Amino acid sequence: GITRHYKFDIKLHNVTRLCHTKSIVSVNGQFPGPRIVAREGDQLLIKVVNHVSKNISIHWHGIRQLRSGWADGPAYVTQCPIQTGQSYVYNFTIVGQRGTLFWHAHVSWLRATVYGPIVILPKRGVPHPFAKPYKEVPIIFGEWFNADPEAVISQALRTGGGPNVSDAYTINGHPGPLYNCSAKDTFKLKVKPGKTYLLRLINAALNDELFFSIANHSLTVVDVDAIYVKPFETGTLLIAPGQTTNVLLKTKPSYPSATFFMTARPYVTGQGTFDNSTVAGILEYESPPNSLHSSISIKMLPLFRPILPALNDTSFATNFVSKLRSLASAQFPANVPQKIDKHFFFTVGLGTIPCQQNQTCQGPNGTKFAASVNNVSFATPTTALLQAHFFAQSNGVYTPDFPNTPIISFNYTGTTPNNTMVSNGTKVVVLPFNATVELVMQDTSILGAESHPLHLHGFNFFVVGQGFGNFDPKKDPAKFNLVDPIERNTVGVPSGGWVAIRFLADNPGVWFMHCHLEVHTSWGLKMAWIVLDGKLPNQKLLPPPADLPKC
Ligand code: C2O
Repeated sequence: GITRHYKFDIKLHNVTRLCHTKSIVSVNGQFPGPRIVAREGDQLLIKVVNHVSKNISIHWHGIRQLRSGWADGPAYVTQCPIQTGQSYVYNFTIVGQRGTLFWHAHVSWLRATVYGPIVILPKRGVPHPFAKPYKEVPIIFGEWFNADPEAVISQALRTGGGPNVSDAYTINGHPGPLYNCSAKDTFKLKVKPGKTYLLRLINAALNDELFFSIANHSLTVVDVDAIYVKPFETGTLLIAPGQTTNVLLKTKPSYPSATFFMTARPYVTGQGTFDNSTVAGILEYESPPNSLHSSISIKMLPLFRPILPALNDTSFATNFVSKLRSLASAQFPANVPQKIDKHFFFTVGLGTIPCQQNQTCQGPNGTKFAASVNNVSFATPTTALLQAHFFAQSNGVYTPDFPNTPIISFNYTGTTPNNTMVSNGTKVVVLPFNATVELVMQDTSILGAESHPLHLHGFNFFVVGQGFGNFDPKKDPAKFNLVDPIERNTVGVPSGGWVAIRFLADNPGVWFMHCHLEVHTSWGLKMAWIVLDGKLPNQKLLPPPADLPKC
């Protein structure tokens, strides 16, 4: 591999969306931010310089960061944030991954505007396990807030209620013609007939899983979370925040006399408020040479719209997810851990915490909304966990007593117990190097069954099983797929159900795990794993870089 250099200047930038101009935090004055392109095996040196008045840190979502946890990015987990006027060089190498990932801010709600694609090409001369596409196009979904996204969440945390929902979804930053005064602000993909396009789909939205479809065209899924899958064809796909999906789009063999909408809108199972609007982009065939068409304006052609599943179509979601399988070929094997050293059972879900005195809280029954893993709502420390771990200064920063099983267990499909209160703590699980881990995550269905896209930093994991209702440790493991389960970094814990994952703890460091619905992260649905160093020199976390930010 080679070394590639990037510079990210964090600065304010004026943009107009939905007829409203505002100043956003951006990278290099671009929205969405710049595209990182590298090959498997390359080293990246990305210098981030903070020119704004707030703290920043950047996460390279899905990059394994083998032994380079200092470059992972979540604020107060692997680093202190980069303060105003300071800079930090993220230094990491891409190992064993090719496909699409993305980068985003990992502090407060800044990722609403600070995000961009990561394109990982295979090593030079190594082909994809599918025919070479004519062209590759990143398509990144986002959520646009007219208000300042940080103000939206801090207001919600103060009052204990739910935050205001976004004002639009976006494709590559554009809301599209179904929103007020946004017809001109539409993503357009111009294509030629009879070609294959690789669309690199990224869900960078804050709080919603999305259905996506292109009218009158089918899509072949070939890769998720930078791992090849057994290809399958679908009209619509589901993509959760934190997930990436590569699809092949075959254009029609001749110039159709129509244009086609591509649309995305949420898959939502919980109660509460959400943005149920639809973002649209346009798939447009270039005008054929020397034909009548070239004199016809595109506006005169009929426009086809895709039909998306209903907002709460869980059977579509279940069916779609069941089609995802690892390629599991000789060249791209699925190394599923077969023998397990450590078993964990985590409940994930919402809950409440008491309202402070003299406050009126807008959460359920006058409490504040909270969220937890095993009833522990993660309290963000004021110094970085990774430094505390590396320098053996955990005292007062974290405790290694994260529970292996829930503190309060109950029938998750029955009635919710009266006490849904959660407790605060900065608790971690400590794993020996190379431990094989099986983790079952169960949606508690407290305050509504909801699919939670759980993201694990530092690893890919295999999704060996999932189901509805309560996980049954006697019966369900017998049905696990240990042959070709999908390998990924973010998985939806099914609404009112459970998911089982397995991974090998071969990456020493401190690794965040959280719901990638930003509001749930803010409410505490997050925790961290510490993986200890192995004995050999190449099994140890690298020492911290000299420019690592201080708190
Ligand atoms: Cu994409 Cu910790 O997140």
